[in-house]
Amino acid sequence: MTEAVLLVGGKGTRLQPLTINTPKPMVPAAGVPFLAHQLARARAAGVRHVVLATCYLADVFEPYFGDGSAHGLRLTYVTEDEPLGTGGAIRAATPALEAGPGDPVLVFNGDILTGLDVRQLLHRHEQAQADVTLHLTRVADPRAFGLVPTGPDGRVTAFTEKPQRPEEIVTDQVNAGCYVFRREVIDTIPAGRPVSVERETFPGLLAEGALLHGVVDGAYWLDLGRPASFIQASADLVRGIVHSPAVPGEPGEYLVLPGARVERGARLGGGTVVGAGAHVEAGAEIDGSVVLDGARIGAGARVRASMIGTGARVGTRTVLDGAVVGDHSTVGADNELRDGARIWCGTAIPDAAIRYSAV
Ligand code: GDD
Ligand code: MG
Repeated sequence: MTEAVLLVGGKGTRLQPLTINTPKPMVPAAGVPFLAHQLARARAAGVRHVVLATCYLADVFEPYFGDGSAHGLRLTYVTEDEPLGTGGAIRAATPALEAGPGDPVLVFNGDILTGLDVRQLLHRHEQAQADVTLHLTRVADPRAFGLVPTGPDGRVTAFTEKPQRPEEIVTDQVNAGCYVFRREVIDTIPAGRPVSVERETFPGLLAEGALLHGVVDGAYWLDLGRPASFIQASADLVRGIVHSPAVPGEPGEYLVLPGARVERGARLGGGTVVGAGAHVEAGAEIDGSVVLDGARIGAGARVRASMIGTGARVGTRTVLDGAVVGDHSTVGADNELRDGARIWCGTAIPDAAIRYSAV
């Protein structure tokens, strides 16, 4: 049986206001909480027991996912009273683990969408006889990630989390947020205090001569930490660019959930999802966007690469491009919001108040 720990306790600060009322893994992507896609992909890779390491807004996970049986998994919930960081959360999950000495334990960051072949990663871990095996991916700008150079045999030679100095940028290979730990390596993480697996555990293991093995993989990969990438991930799931068994429908240019109303003459595309009870009025055009449950998009509005929160209102003829409208906010008619504009939850913007906003 394969086991996994899913790290879902972060505050999701960079995704605000989407994460004010909802922890990041519970924000809907392609019609279901993002976490449902990760669980479905883990299930498909043979994982049968998942420990959810929760902290921020911890209470909302269990009412939705229960014991996991509806998702073909067994779920155990472990909650930190105070955030213990990535390493501390993995350590705190140990009482719930069933894996024995030598067994592999998968660990996933809770905000990554990837087409990685997890079975293959487990196989490579076995072959390398590694202490920890890390999924690595190549990115154009590695500064926001953990840098992980490797030798020709895949052996990790260093781990530099979010490099500050130009001379530290020695590779475009970054930590992709999925690891295979040998079970007993987890027990070496100190208990009961905050630990960063990236800043403390991995550099410490390397200094001790442990074998960290890196697997560079070119599969689809996206960190959903920012609104633009979250919206992109949802659209890619809807269009089937990356596959998830949890998408509630066939791949296509849009997904309209049951109970939504899309009036004739409205145009949907680019992987847009329209949530339950949402209403899209005639002549509205929505491209590559996420419209959450109960939101309303006014007649003739043009919405692109944006996220409209639960119960929010977008007025007639308003233009949104790369914007986030928080839950239960109202943007009046004839506004124009672009380039990362964020409207906080419960805000009301009058008609024709904003022409353009770059944040
Ligand atoms: N339970 C718990 N407790 N979970 C936590 C905590 C905590 O204190 N802190 C963070 N997490 C979870 C987050 O919810 C997220 O799923 C995961 O750990 C990673 O945290 P992020 O805050 O998203 O980190 P990041 O994106 O800046 O960097 C991480 O991911 C990159 C890849 O996307 C690092 O692992 C980088 O090395 C990596 O390149
Ligand atoms: Mg992240």
